[in-house]
Amino acid sequence: MPFQSNSSDAKSIKIVVVGAGSVGVTTAYALLLDRLAADIVLIDVDKNRAQGEAMDLSHAAHFAQARVRVGDYEDCAHAAAVVITAGVNQKPGQTRLDLVKTNYALFKEVVPRVAHHAPDTILVVATNPVDVLTHAALQLSGFPVERVIGSGTAMDTTRFRHELGRHFGVNPRNVHAVILGEHGDSQLPAWSLASISGMRLRDYCEAAGVEYDEAALEGCARRTKEAAYEIIRRKGKTNYGVASVLVSILQPIVTDSDAIMTVSRVGAYGGVEDVALSMPCKLNRSGAYQDVPLRLSESEQQALRQSALSIKEVLDSLED
Ligand code: LAC
Repeated sequence: MPFQSNSSDAKSIKIVVVGAGSVGVTTAYALLLDRLAADIVLIDVDKNRAQGEAMDLSHAAHFAQARVRVGDYEDCAHAAAVVITAGVNQKPGQTRLDLVKTNYALFKEVVPRVAHHAPDTILVVATNPVDVLTHAALQLSGFPVERVIGSGTAMDTTRFRHELGRHFGVNPRNVHAVILGEHGDSQLPAWSLASISGMRLRDYCEAAGVEYDEAALEGCARRTKEAAYEIIRRKGKTNYGVASVLVSILQPIVTDSDAIMTVSRVGAYGGVEDVALSMPCKLNRSGAYQDVPLRLSESEQQALRQSALSIKEVLDSLED
């Protein structure tokens, strides 16, 4: 049985973050601010740097009745979730898929050690290319499919809602719109599912007496897809957005609250078997479930198939 905390309050929750780089430590900080866990463990091969980060974070933990410490793989035991952020990240001009060889080699070291010490935990993969590495983590851990979750397009869905909120002048939380498929260049906006205050976007525009500006909306999707490249070109990395997205994925796991989010999970997409992509999943203490009904347009199903085929191609190259 997966980790069963005897209470969903933070006091009994341990979350492990593997990788004390900028995404990992920002995730630890976001966990403190969210008061989601009482015990946050950082694991990193550079123990000295991890120690420095933990010491600094401990001064923030003071305000959250929590503790942040450096641990090792045996500290994964009884963790509600283990977040894997370790690996190299994109440099300007690189795609996420360019990172696959280096990060896959790292996963072959890390994932079996986590699985050995925490056979009942839930793996949350953030390292890119996240869809390929979610599939790798499933293979390497031997966990059931629902307990290996990739942050996937939860990040892109957040950005998409931000862009659409700015376009329509409404709070992004009131925009129901998702990005599906690869957390990367083959992702697709599910326009057929997008709505504001219960109305599909065309109906909303008609009711609001505003133009349904297709070019502007395509611009929202384009800026969503290009956001990471634009941020990395300017500051060399992304960390705040993805850290908050990771905490938003951990929250329904820790509180067992069945939130629906677009996360990456191994399955069959557009007729392509055994590949990890993002679709709306129900998240709870046992993991990610794909029993969320979805009706995509013909063109969206085609785009999803293309996304699956591009990830499958990379997966097949790993076995070469
Ligand atoms: C990004 C990284 C997490 O999209 O892929 O910011």
